[in-house]
Amino acid sequence: MSPAAPRATRPGHGRTWAKAILLGEHSVVYGHPAVALPLHDLEMTATVTPTAGPSWLHSLGYDGPLREGGPRFACIARALEAAREFSGLLGQSFRIETRSDFPHERGLGSSAAAAGAIIRAVLDSCGRSATMEELLALTHMAEQVAHDRPSGLDAAATSAPAPIRFQSGEMRPLAQRIAGGHIVIADSGVHGSTREAVRGLRLRYEASPAVLGPKLQHLGDLTTTATHALDTGDAPLLGAAMNEAHTTLGELGLSLPVLDRLTDAARGAGALGAKLTGGGLGGCVIALAAGAEPAARVRQALDDVGARRTWIYRMRTSQTARNAS
Ligand code: PMV
Repeated sequence: MSPAAPRATRPGHGRTWAKAILLGEHSVVYGHPAVALPLHDLEMTATVTPTAGPSWLHSLGYDGPLREGGPRFACIARALEAAREFSGLLGQSFRIETRSDFPHERGLGSSAAAAGAIIRAVLDSCGRSATMEELLALTHMAEQVAHDRPSGLDAAATSAPAPIRFQSGEMRPLAQRIAGGHIVIADSGVHGSTREAVRGLRLRYEASPAVLGPKLQHLGDLTTTATHALDTGDAPLLGAAMNEAHTTLGELGLSLPVLDRLTDAARGAGALGAKLTGGGLGGCVIALAAGAEPAARVRQALDDVGARRTWIYRMRTSQTARNAS
């Protein structure tokens, strides 16, 4: 090995976080815009340690050789391979450990967050720097194993510093001017396979594009409404767009009775809007509340109808906000 060749000599660390799609899941796969919130308090961290033996994974209840992890960890295996290729470290094995504050397969972006954290940790281990575009491209490679033709939204949102608008691979930070807004997130406890949800919708779309195409367009239009609502600080408008999106996602076959029950309970407790978030067919719902106390009431109602876990995310107004608090 030449003296200049990259080497992993020390443990490396990487950090990403969960995300919630505010509007535009699924339609984003068809080229429409989406808006996502990075949930910085729900972290995913990865530590990788160079090792002599085969690569080892300690993650999500699994503790064993990475190559024996099966399809569930194929995304992580691809993330490691992509990061090693990028760093010129193909022969290097690692012990990989991840730790997450949020559940997986619940529409909160865990596969992209894990891939992104591991990629950053491998690069850190060998002192290799990368631009944000390069990091997103590497995460996208791993996501292609986890999802069927991912839009790239999860990879972007799980490492974004602020809310983003995302469309066809392009992202931009969004203004957020809803003062006092809170997003209550509730886990239905049902695993939702994003891969199956995306694939199922694709088959239905190919069978009836004239019926489903306008519904996807409608979700894209609701995203534009949400972007406007965030920019003007119009919480009721955002809430109405969320409610409408949940109905449309249901018409596309992506909701479940448990998700409808949770969203109904949130609205009944005063939420301005509520919808499923992420791939659907399980996973989480999100609800918009107008302040800390309304958010606590919504959370209680969600707990009362059987949410497995709930979190409250306070929407911070961006620095450029007209009504910054
Ligand atoms: O379920 P999640 O958190 O992986 O979100 C998936 C979002 C989709 O729009 C359904 C798929 C995609 O690739 O954007």
